[in-house]
Amino acid sequence: MSAGKDGMHMEWPLHGGQPDRIRQLFRMPAEQKLLDFSANINPLGPPDSVRRLWPALLEQMTVYPDPDYNEAVAAVAAHSGTSPDRVLLTNGGAEAIFLAARLLAGGTALIVHPTFAEYEHACAHYRVRTQLLIAEPDQPFPVEEVMRRFSAVDGLFLCRPNNPSGELLPRDCIVRLLEHAQRTETLLIVDEAFIDFVAEPDASIVSLLDDFPNLVLTRSLTKMYALPGLRIGYSLAEPHLIQQMAAHRMPWSVNGPAALLTPVLLEDAKFASRTRKWLQTELEWLRSRMRQLNFAMSASKTNFYLLRDPNPSSDAATLYAFLLEGGILPRHTHTFPGLEGAALRFAVRSREENERLLERLAEWRLLRHAAEGIR
Ligand SMILES: Cc1ncc(COP(=O)(O)O)c(C=O)c1O
Repeated sequence: MSAGKDGMHMEWPLHGGQPDRIRQLFRMPAEQKLLDFSANINPLGPPDSVRRLWPALLEQMTVYPDPDYNEAVAAVAAHSGTSPDRVLLTNGGAEAIFLAARLLAGGTALIVHPTFAEYEHACAHYRVRTQLLIAEPDQPFPVEEVMRRFSAVDGLFLCRPNNPSGELLPRDCIVRLLEHAQRTETLLIVDEAFIDFVAEPDASIVSLLDDFPNLVLTRSLTKMYALPGLRIGYSLAEPHLIQQMAAHRMPWSVNGPAALLTPVLLEDAKFASRTRKWLQTELEWLRSRMRQLNFAMSASKTNFYLLRDPNPSSDAATLYAFLLEGGILPRHTHTFPGLEGAALRFAVRSREENERLLERLAEWRLLRHAAEGIR
């Protein structure tokens, strides 16, 4: 398992959830089982309603969907406390991000790393120039520096909670950014793909849409409802921005089953609140166990977190290989500028699965202690 242990010269996959690619990279047998902590999907999902609706979903595949997705759009609007003319249904959060980037075509966007890679891809796709700012690890978000750059850019991409850390930029910080952005005519594109997991009241900044016409939110149903293959997401913004984005969306980009399921999923408030309760308990428990094992865990508010071994004699690449050998697949961070592999990201999975991860980390800790004792 030494292939590329240093993380150099390897074609690391850009997204989590690709165990086959990792097996190939590490020359592991194809049948080797890996517990996948690299994709951030709700382990409680999909909700039972999806299975119950199967015959109706099949039926939807035989007809064209409503090109305006009126029922799904109404459900998103009701769920978000906004009006249907501020909603655009999209083929996953990814399409919402790409259509938001399209609003900046010919201009310049600011991206603060480490963050989700698709903002840069979306900008490249629509020939939006990018300015990249690398935030210092373990330091507060560089609000002042970001605001200083507004006069030179047309838009800013933000991820809230951020991927990969799971940290949530405070609301007052967003308000400061939005106020300044209004003066400089900068568009704020805020990706709330994981916001439904956050237990804090008013975690979403959707209510700010009323005061800030320069705000675009992108959301995803993939993560909360564990349906990455179905592709459902949406965008929330001022009606004229929604219209501009809609003009560039492919006809029927959202499939019929996805549109049919959207109201059913969003109206299942019990599933979402059960998930948030479960996650709060699990995050607290993980935090205390990681502390006992002397690992540094990011202050995540959502269903994944970054982990570092603060011991200077440890390195993340060796830990990654050690976990793989134990049948555990973390998300590497080689493709996150500002991290370059120095931390590992883990999804919060079931208690039993999280325990397996902790057992392997405890073995690692014992081995490190033994190695340090010898030196
Ligand atoms: C931060 C973030 N936003 C958006 C997405 C896109 O999600 P989807 O297109 O599956 O809805 C992802 C997927 O990993 C993500 O991590």
